[in-house]
Amino acid sequence: MEASRLKSHVFYGSLKKEYPVVSHAEGSYIFSTDGKKYIDCSAGAAVSNIGHSAEFVQNAMIEQIKKATYVYGSQFTSEAREDLADRIISLAPEGMERVFFCSGGGEAVESIIKIARQYQVEAGRPSKYKIISRWQSYHGNTIATMSVGGRPSWRKPFEPLLLHMPHVAQCNCYHCPFGLKHPDCNLACAEDLERTIKYEGPETVAAFLLEPIIGTTATCSLPAEGYLKRIREICDKYDILMCCDEVITGLGRTGKNFAVDHYGVVPDLISVAKGLGGGYVPIGAVIAHQKVVKAFEEGSGSLVHSFTFGSMPIVCAAANAVLKYAVDNKLYDRAAEMGDVFAEKLKKGLLDLWAVGEVRHKGMLFGIELVKNKEDRSSFPPAFHFSDKVSKYCFENGMIILSGVTGVRDGVEGEALQLSPPFVITEEEMDEAVSILRNAIITVSDEYMHQNNN
Ligand SMILES: Cc1ncc(COP(=O)(O)O)c(C=O)c1O
Repeated sequence: MEASRLKSHVFYGSLKKEYPVVSHAEGSYIFSTDGKKYIDCSAGAAVSNIGHSAEFVQNAMIEQIKKATYVYGSQFTSEAREDLADRIISLAPEGMERVFFCSGGGEAVESIIKIARQYQVEAGRPSKYKIISRWQSYHGNTIATMSVGGRPSWRKPFEPLLLHMPHVAQCNCYHCPFGLKHPDCNLACAEDLERTIKYEGPETVAAFLLEPIIGTTATCSLPAEGYLKRIREICDKYDILMCCDEVITGLGRTGKNFAVDHYGVVPDLISVAKGLGGGYVPIGAVIAHQKVVKAFEEGSGSLVHSFTFGSMPIVCAAANAVLKYAVDNKLYDRAAEMGDVFAEKLKKGLLDLWAVGEVRHKGMLFGIELVKNKEDRSSFPPAFHFSDKVSKYCFENGMIILSGVTGVRDGVEGEALQLSPPFVITEEEMDEAVSILRNAIITVSDEYMHQNNN
């Protein structure tokens, strides 16, 4: 196949750019048919956590293909499905009891919304249906998940179709929505939840949904100390489920099994996806706490929700192999240790640049703030597309990062980059990545200065 195709029948995300054609992928690298090699510092979309083309997973998939690839989850179960649920529960926080399978992150969050609503019905509180979520969040691209999403530019074209789901402020100390400083702020962002619950009416609110560490829309924005514990208290006070979207952060990305494990908080429902299939299969899941399961067991006994492809044995077998490979090779610990190493290299290689305001990380999830002025943290004009330009330069020079994020400060302004490499990335590969990224930021900063001095 040609390296890039000018005429295609694929409805691409961008109809104005050429896509390289993948030839093969291995470890932290993707190779295209024109002989180019890319270091994959985003793991696709934070997916290929254990690295590309692990033979262990390939073999497990071949084994399962020979036995059975598909049975309908409402008619049969399989060893692969049962083993996978056992494995996930063994990694999940204390008290998590059952796992619902689906085909990706959006389906997992859609499922959280429905399970949370049905839970309230089963628990005898049928007036509770609203899902409160946060600005500067991303939960998927379906109508319901976009309704709880909080990235204005992605919501806008579909605004008339979205459901009424109240939003509260994000917890983001670098760009505090209240202009305050922790701990003097007294967690004003958490109190925004309680205030909103009161305004909406506690009897109408079923759940609060949040990314414990924000991924795509605020690039590894970490919760302030005490934030998640306060959220847990508020949810309990009003019989509201605390639902954590760990589609990016779940299963090792932050150097622990789940992001909530860093903060000693146990949610009622958790969504996972990306690192679960590791890029070998599309799969998502909702992990439910025993409190939620009990309400279903003592209520109707049935979950009014399913997907045709929810529990395919071939998919579950692959995900089982991905998790076994990660655990046997201690890759989550590696994400913690090597994440610190990469963070040091990024800080050393980038923080002296005038446009780099902050480098932060948890495990193998990194956020880099790009600012016009380090002192007042003011933002580049969104129309300049600073972060997108950096990401484009990197791609052209053999390094993949996600397309830049605009709007991290207030939904409109604020530029940042997200890095989320495979956990198997080596120190040598990190050095290569830092060097390309440094050149990219210098090139785009120079272009900005040039435009603004003329
Ligand atoms: C936190 C979070 N939730 C949900 C999703 C949606 O997942 P998917 O693209 O698999 O539907 C994403 C995707 O980036 C995500 O980061």
